Amino acid sequence: MIETDTLMAELINVRTRQGSSLYPISIDGGSLRSIGEVAAGIVPGGKVAIISNRKVNGLYGLIVTNALKKSGLKPVTHLIGDGERFKSLRTLESTLKFLGENKISRTDLIVAVGGGVVGDLAGFAAAVYLRGIKFIQVPTTLLSMIDSSVGGKTGVNTSFGKNLVGAFYQPSAVVIDPDVLATLPKRELTAGFCEAVKQGALSGTKLLDLTQKALDEKLAFGQFDRFLAEQIRFKASIVAADERESAEKTDAKSRKILNFGHTFGHAIEKATQYRRFKHGEAVGHGIIFAAELSKKLELLKQDEVDLLNGVVHRAGKLPTLHGIDSAAVIEAFGFDKKVIGNSLQWILLSGIGKPVIKSGADLPATTLKSTLRTILSR
Ligand SMILES: NC(=O)c1ccc[n+]([C@@H]2O[C@H](COP(=O)([O-])OP(=O)(O)OC[C@H]3O[C@@H](n4cnc5c(N)ncnc54)[C@H](O)[C@@H]3O)[C@@H](O)[C@H]2O)c1
Ligand SMILES: [Zn+2]
Repeated sequence: MIETDTLMAELINVRTRQGSSLYPISIDGGSLRSIGEVAAGIVPGGKVAIISNRKVNGLYGLIVTNALKKSGLKPVTHLIGDGERFKSLRTLESTLKFLGENKISRTDLIVAVGGGVVGDLAGFAAAVYLRGIKFIQVPTTLLSMIDSSVGGKTGVNTSFGKNLVGAFYQPSAVVIDPDVLATLPKRELTAGFCEAVKQGALSGTKLLDLTQKALDEKLAFGQFDRFLAEQIRFKASIVAADERESAEKTDAKSRKILNFGHTFGHAIEKATQYRRFKHGEAVGHGIIFAAELSKKLELLKQDEVDLLNGVVHRAGKLPTLHGIDSAAVIEAFGFDKKVIGNSLQWILLSGIGKPVIKSGADLPATTLKSTLRTILSR
């Protein structure tokens, strides 16, 4: 069901290919206060393990706990560390221990309240604890609202790489209260908006325009909810067509296209030891890089490149690329200079809303290098 009245909660049902995991995503200012009703509809009278971090819990923990109690549920809270490094097997273990010690059963519920770190970890805990218990996502960052809470990817980082251990596991519901964005630090908002620009560029001018309007604060009352809803609807549509990101699928509906801006983005995150950029900020630079590369390959026109540059810059001030050496970026692509990027996949655009997947082997190394020179010398 999709409500069109912008003053009402936006309800989006996400259907995945299995069809079994149809769950509601609601978007409504103040809805944190009604989380109890949603939870009680899933596990009436049950125990609820809230997983969050100190910061988010300090801001919203009481609202969530009280709402759950009011609906006759029994909440217990487990706080994990704040930051990407806490999305780890160690945190998973302590979380599972908490669930076990609190005798959370298969008829109880996990509620993840926080950004993507909390959501990914709590979702994975829900997937493996007792071989799977129900959970609700309450994403509190822009990135987690439009990206990480949609699509069922859960997991943790390990010493051998990020997000390499996890499960596809769908929540029972996603509750989005856009009011919580009021306390989100500016850089986190920028990072989230860069992912929104990515999805807009992949989806088409309609979503890109809506994103631009959200950035320019030109949305009428209630329209921000619509922006979130359209972003989620786009991500959900891609996920529904390719739930498990099949390796063979390389068409414009492949889940891989969501990596637009990420090849260069990941490389500069790595080349700066993950210290300079928030992930979304690096993706902002990555979008500009991918647009420039698409132009050099005669796929994208200059005015479309300019449009994308403009929207990314409206998302906020990105940390500079200054001092990043092209050799370090090439190394971060994971290959030596001779086979530069050969087994990488590049998501490029042949127009706004027209993603194309190109294998690194099909890209002339000279074009890649000259794009690097252009972007890094700005
Ligand atoms: N599962 C997926 O499909 C998927 C997709 C994209 C990203 N991710 C993952 O998401 C993670 C990044 O998520 P993120 O960007 O939300 O970062 P995050 O979870 O680290 O949150 C960013 C910061 O904002 C704080 N915060 C959260 N909500 C707040 C609020 N309302 N007010 C004030 N502060 C608040 C957090 O405490 C944290 O310090 C990464 O681990 C990434 O791998 C997963
Ligand atoms: Zn990303």
